[in-house]
Amino acid sequence: MSASTPPPVVRPPVIETRALEKVYSAGTEAEVVALKGVDLTIAHGEFVAIMGPSGSGKSTLMNLIGCLDTPTGGQYLCDGIDVATLDREQLAELRRDKIGFVFQGFNLLPRMSALENVAMPLGYARVPHDERAGRARDALAAVGLANRGGHRPSELSGGQQQRVAIARALINRPPVLLADEPTGALDTKTGEEILALFKRLCVEGHTVVLITHDPDIAAHADRTMVMRDGELHEEGPFDTRIAQASAGVTP
Ligand SMILES: Nc1ncnc2c1ncn2[C@@H]1O[C@H](COP(=O)(O)OP(=O)(O)O)[C@@H](O)[C@H]1O
Ligand SMILES: [Mg+2]
Repeated sequence: MSASTPPPVVRPPVIETRALEKVYSAGTEAEVVALKGVDLTIAHGEFVAIMGPSGSGKSTLMNLIGCLDTPTGGQYLCDGIDVATLDREQLAELRRDKIGFVFQGFNLLPRMSALENVAMPLGYARVPHDERAGRARDALAAVGLANRGGHRPSELSGGQQQRVAIARALINRPPVLLADEPTGALDTKTGEEILALFKRLCVEGHTVVLITHDPDIAAHADRTMVMRDGELHEEGPFDTRIAQASAGVTP
């Protein structure tokens, strides 16, 4: 008799790009080939760091993965869905349900309280009004800011503002968190606290893709990749060559 355990459910990679390409201002004098045939596969729950010099295409890749922009070539499958098959509305829904974004500059709305900032995306997700405050309070508590809901961004430290931004990114419970230099504006100690938060989110099942210039931050990732001139290189476990490449040093 065969074992009664069901076969394992095979989940597609949460992020899969095939020969992804981005050319800005194609055919003009201002043409920039920002991404050249990027193949990137990330499984659910991975913590991936992307390094590389300024202008190498890191943010361009992040914007494509986050469906904020469309590629000029190649394919992108988000959680198994080919995003090129989606119309505008479906794409907006995919972005809302699958992706949370965190930026270097926090991008909080200055006139709103921390709680209101965190609750913002719930409006787009059509969550009923009476549920929003409770969800936002839970999200703030999860990043250690239960008692700061009424504060405006200017009344919070940089690290606290980034926590608010992370709570906002997670409010619709997306599986993927994309962070573009999230510790770039923070001091080392605060950056480490934010890193610890990302690591915890990974343990809880999120997938984290983090762009960083800081080799000490990248060293905590499961995998580190380096962008150079629009090409993505997988470097395996972290080592000093990555730090040198990121700093623009040629060995
Ligand atoms: N919207 C845009 N229009 C034209 N060129 C762009 C645009 N965004 C980025 N670029 C160019 O694409 C290249 C990669 O930029 P970017 O992805 O921002 O790099 P990184 O994040 O690694 O610093 C750069 O040469 C940059 O000038
Ligand atoms: Mg950038």
